[in-house]
Amino acid sequence: MPLNIVFFLTLHAQFIIEIMTIEEAIKQRHSVRKYIHKPLSTEVVRALAEKIGECNKEGGLHIQLVTQETKAFSGIMSYGKFHGVENYLVMAGQKADNLDERIGYYGEQLVLLAQALGFNTCWAGLSYRKVNGAYKIEKGEKLTCIDCLGIRRDTRG
Ligand SMILES: Cc1cc2nc3c(=O)[nH]c(=O)nc-3n(C[C@H](O)[C@H](O)[C@H](O)COP(=O)(O)O)c2cc1C
Repeated sequence: MPLNIVFFLTLHAQFIIEIMTIEEAIKQRHSVRKYIHKPLSTEVVRALAEKIGECNKEGGLHIQLVTQETKAFSGIMSYGKFHGVENYLVMAGQKADNLDERIGYYGEQLVLLAQALGFNTCWAGLSYRKVNGAYKIEKGEKLTCIDCLGIRRDTRG
């Protein structure tokens, strides 16, 4: 995977955003757990969906983007920690010894793309609850974790 992947994707998606190199995205990124209410634009959804498709194909994964879904981070598991989570990536794939490794590799690419598109993210393996119907976990698949994404609320964390 070339290091200039973020450049490529933003141009390929054919809309204008502030272009950021993957190195800049790495430097800027830090976990954010509190978000403002702002639905993702069609262009952002398209760019993420395109990259998700690539990652799923290359990595043999079943990563899914869930938008405008507020239940996953509204229960006891996320209480007091996460606020305003409305969008997230479901990191899933067929059970395999190296599933976690592939989720980490491809998931981080998605997280860095989200950062380059102006979004904050946070990996969560425990602080959420599963929501029936919001995404699909097929037979033999495992949901390893979730990565929420949104625009940071103007507070710490
Ligand atoms: C796979 C994975 C699962 C995680 N699960 C949770 C979680 O359930 N709840 C949580 O508050 N932080 C969780 N974290 C930690 C945060 O996502 C984050 O890595 C940590 O706060 C460090 O922040 P930084 O990304 O700014 O360095 C998880 C991290 C990883 C890599």
